Amino acid sequence: MLVFAKIKSVQQKIESLKKGTTVGFVPTMGALHQGHLSLIEQAKKENDLVVVSIFVNPTQFDNSEDLINYPKTIDTDLSLLKAVFCDVVFTPSANEVYANNVQSAAFNFDGLEHQMEGKFRNGHFDGVGTIVKRLFEIVTPTKAYFGEKDFQQLQIIRKMVEKNQLSVEIIGCPIYREKDGLAMSSRNERLTKKHRAIAPFVYKTLKQAKIEFGTKNALEVINWVENKFKKQPLLELEYFEIANEDDLQTIKNKNEKQKHRAFIAVFAGEIRLIDNISL
Ligand code: PAJ
Repeated sequence: MLVFAKIKSVQQKIESLKKGTTVGFVPTMGALHQGHLSLIEQAKKENDLVVVSIFVNPTQFDNSEDLINYPKTIDTDLSLLKAVFCDVVFTPSANEVYANNVQSAAFNFDGLEHQMEGKFRNGHFDGVGTIVKRLFEIVTPTKAYFGEKDFQQLQIIRKMVEKNQLSVEIIGCPIYREKDGLAMSSRNERLTKKHRAIAPFVYKTLKQAKIEFGTKNALEVINWVENKFKKQPLLELEYFEIANEDDLQTIKNKNEKQKHRAFIAVFAGEIRLIDNISL
């Protein structure tokens, strides 16, 4: 496994290894867990060469505390990547990526960016768009892998690729969960014991909401979920929404022509958890 921190070196290496091969790319912010590794395993199956980036991207954090506290476990990450036979790892510094101008470009994602996470995390998707576009330019992947855990991010990346006519295929990968249902996340490490114990309530409620959606309209399901959380003092519901998968517009009633998904964000103490389920 080869590890590079400089753009020029990683580009030269990929270029030399690439000839006639397909490159699978998995961008990450490190603190790797089995959810990340499942993306890398899928990329391994579908490509000749797999590149993973580890970069805690400052421009996508709307909260400086969250950026400072974001877990950094580079040595463990590299061992995990070696164990799944990752070929190339790119671990740049912020200066390397942003050339001393740590700023986001402004994107228009046709309104996808104003839904859900966009309402609560100011500038977040401009930061994500900026870094992912930059990483695509550096790595020039054939396919890039993103988790449905961050479903809105996945759709936004698809939109960016479509609008900029980038020649990369975006692959969405299923949410990888702990045995008790909690969606794996680097931030889970920071949950207190009591919050970790209650956190599976989020997915449990999503599964129940899916059943409720069989007989109720969207508003009724939203009320039902909000009431569930009112009775759960350790968890603070930020939003629960039911939306179309493609345009992320919230819905009132089912539409047979659309795929629907429920999205949730919850505070468990200081830690913000997000999850979603297809309906
Ligand atoms: P990060 O949170 O490290 O996630 C990297 C990738 O792993 C994302 O595509 C995310 O959706 C996926 N992922 C995380 N947890 C997962 C889980 N439990 N199951 C399946 N996939 C999971 O998302 C980012 O980093 C950043 O925004 C990034 C795209 C790297 C840009 O900075």
